[in-house]
Amino acid sequence: MKRSSAPAGDAPDLGPLARLAKKARQRAHAPFSGFKVGAALRTAEGEVVTGCNIENASYGLTLCAERVAVFKAVSEGLTRFDALAVVADSPRLTAPCGPCRQILWEFCGDIWIHMENLKGKATTVRMAELLPLPFDRRNL
Ligand code: THU
Repeated sequence: MKRSSAPAGDAPDLGPLARLAKKARQRAHAPFSGFKVGAALRTAEGEVVTGCNIENASYGLTLCAERVAVFKAVSEGLTRFDALAVVADSPRLTAPCGPCRQILWEFCGDIWIHMENLKGKATTVRMAELLPLPFDRRNL
């Protein structure tokens, strides 16, 4: 079967990007779940925009760290991205949720997604592996 993404073995070292996500995680506003997440999105030019999850009393308006990073970047006029790191404190690595996958795909395309926890457990995959059969502008 034809792969639509590069094999994960080719993944670059995204440890430095994860360290920025870890810093951003400290600014998470998660009084309801207690689950703090940090994200760091890197542009094709090497600029990094971070995000953290932001919860609120209605729960449903919560913003995930990944979407905060993407929307911050897009609002600053940045358009070309190559990697995103997500850091949380959980034995099971935190992968972007469904809505975040859709947003990441539409605004960032098939970028590297690096997931890491506070103990240094990590994995790096391509966005196309997380969202193999996407709905996007090509469908419209
Ligand atoms: N969360 C993120 O920020 N990113 C993820 O990838 C998964 C979940 C947040 C949303 C909510 O504030 C908390 O984690 C628990 O779901």
